[in-house]
Amino acid sequence: MLDAFARFPRAPLAHLPTPFSEMKRLRAALQAEGHLVPRLFIKRDDCTGLADGGNKTRKLEFLIGEALAQGADTIVTTGALQSNHARQTAAAAITAGIRPVLVLLDMVPYQGRAYRHSGNLLLDDIMGAEVRIVPQGANPAVFIKGAIDEISAADGKPFFVPTGGSNATGSLGYAAAYFEIADALDALGIANARIIHGSSSGGTQAGLVAGAALRGRGPAVHGINVYRGDHAAMKAGILSLARATAEALGAPSPADEAVILEEGFLGRGYGMPTAAMIEAVELIARNEGILLDPVYTGKAMAGLLALIRTRSTPPEEALVFLHTGGMPGLFAYEEEFTGNAKG
Ligand SMILES: Cc1ncc(COP(=O)(O)O)c(C=O)c1O
Repeated sequence: MLDAFARFPRAPLAHLPTPFSEMKRLRAALQAEGHLVPRLFIKRDDCTGLADGGNKTRKLEFLIGEALAQGADTIVTTGALQSNHARQTAAAAITAGIRPVLVLLDMVPYQGRAYRHSGNLLLDDIMGAEVRIVPQGANPAVFIKGAIDEISAADGKPFFVPTGGSNATGSLGYAAAYFEIADALDALGIANARIIHGSSSGGTQAGLVAGAALRGRGPAVHGINVYRGDHAAMKAGILSLARATAEALGAPSPADEAVILEEGFLGRGYGMPTAAMIEAVELIARNEGILLDPVYTGKAMAGLLALIRTRSTPPEEALVFLHTGGMPGLFAYEEEFTGNAKG
């Protein structure tokens, strides 16, 4: 496996391997509800270590590696106002001595009082990132091109990182992460397992699926759609990115069935809170002392809980929840969590 990744430039940004632990108290709480519950594990990619961590750090190792190899002096990236990706990209750029420019879209119709200044936006400001806001209804592509053209006109060398760092370069980070997870399961003697995680721009899932193709055996990969109403198009996008990533690695092309994407947990749309998300965030915090986030991991955990409560996965199959980070988002959604326990 080392050979497959060694030929890509890589900036060492993440604290790896991230912790891998069992959620025994959560399992007991679900058993107390009367369910047959498999062994539950958590892979702590919220602990990747860069400016509060998260899944983008693994992708950014390869993306910043490529940017440095090309002699870039400025990184331009994009995402929603509360983008975890933009926050981690800013930190990654800073550690590499590169200037971060964040083109952030005011695209989520959430009207919480802290959404437009706290959470990730506050952290972007503290890091001194240049933030350009795209108002609702405006064309993001115009703003992105404008930023890139301006940097070039001033003799700068811009490098563009797409939404979520989700291209075949960024996804290499999750192909490598698949080995980390599968090796941890092997070390515990667990042969039957499934990784569950939130899927949005798709690079995490595509990378994991490509990693599975390269490794040839290991846990299934099960994404929870937290991003798009157009589920079929999202799934097709993940498959095509998984195939591009596998090709870059010289791995067999993933089959259609390798991409499992669960719907039903998005609610009214990306970034819009759901009751199931709030229940999941509070349940995990109160049983495991682990903080999820309102936009991705809270909805993904709601998906995992539903799989258990509806007995959709067999009890002998261990579930590994991939915690992809995002905790700063809790502060942007503070009033969702002030109602105390929902039962
Ligand atoms: C905390 C968190 N979890 C999950 C995701 C989804 O990852 P991907 O965009 O690779 O699908 C993101 C992406 O922004 C994220 O910030």
